[in-house]
Amino acid sequence: MRSVSYVGVVLLIGIVACASLGIAVAGEEEMCVPLGMIELQPPDSVEARRVEVAFPHGSHMGLACKNCHHTWEGAAPVTGCMTSGCHDLESLPRKADSHTVDKAQAFRYYKNAYHGQCIGCHKTMKIEIQEMANTLASIDGKLPTTGPTGCIECHPKE
Ligand code: HEC
Ligand code: HEC
Ligand code: HEC
Repeated sequence: MRSVSYVGVVLLIGIVACASLGIAVAGEEEMCVPLGMIELQPPDSVEARRVEVAFPHGSHMGLACKNCHHTWEGAAPVTGCMTSGCHDLESLPRKADSHTVDKAQAFRYYKNAYHGQCIGCHKTMKIEIQEMANTLASIDGKLPTTGPTGCIECHPKE
């Protein structure tokens, strides 16, 4: 599993907080970063089985952008996760003429990408925090927090 990075990229683009919760991009030279909730939904053509996910972008600003925007080089505005050629598939890809899943391309299925990133990091951090707690057992300090790993914590019941 990939470890969590706290070191940011060198920015070649100006960053401003969005005036509203909108996620507009301000222009080539400036990018507005939403600091509130971002509603993460499946593509329009998918009939959702779960409630959409309220993602608190702002709670993640202590982490390097590259943990999530992993193809972003800091020069152009950030692009969405389901951009064409990225995590743009609505279901698991199959190999040609077969029913087997194409594992090498499975990351393109948006659900796998989100679950891998979101749940993956929260799980990794839980383990790291537990290890820290074990090592620092005698220290009465506040441990770092991480995010949810259970289904209904992210997809609340309707
Ligand atoms: C924990 C993961 C995570 C981290 C860390 C993170 N982001 Fe994001 N960010 C997201 C997700 C998920 C979206 C929603 C993307 C989508 O809708 O496809 C998003 C959206 C955005 C958008 C809006 C993009 C658009 O489509 O309009 C911008 C801009 C952005 N992030 C900038 C940043 C910057 C700058 C940093 C670092 C300071 C950062 N993000 C850190 C996950 C993250
Ligand atoms: C690289 C690590 C990382 C990734 C990737 C990540 N998170 Fe988190 N998440 C965290 C950490 C750390 C916290 C704790 C932040 C805090 O308490 O300030 C957190 C907290 C949260 C919380 C609780 C926030 C609150 O304010 O109570 C939610 C909900 C959440 N994450 C959802 C998501 C979703 C959805 C994604 C995927 C789009 C995601 N996270 C991706 C590290 C990550
Ligand atoms: C850390 C947050 C997080 C957790 C925990 C999580 N998911 Fe998701 N899940 C997402 C995100 C983000 C998406 C993509 C946006 C969407 O489809 O709502 C997604 C998408 C899905 C989808 C595809 C879209 C749909 O509604 O049909 C299903 C099904 C799903 N999740 C089921 C689950 C189940 C079952 C669990 C527990 C094993 C779970 N998720 C745990 C964040 C999470």
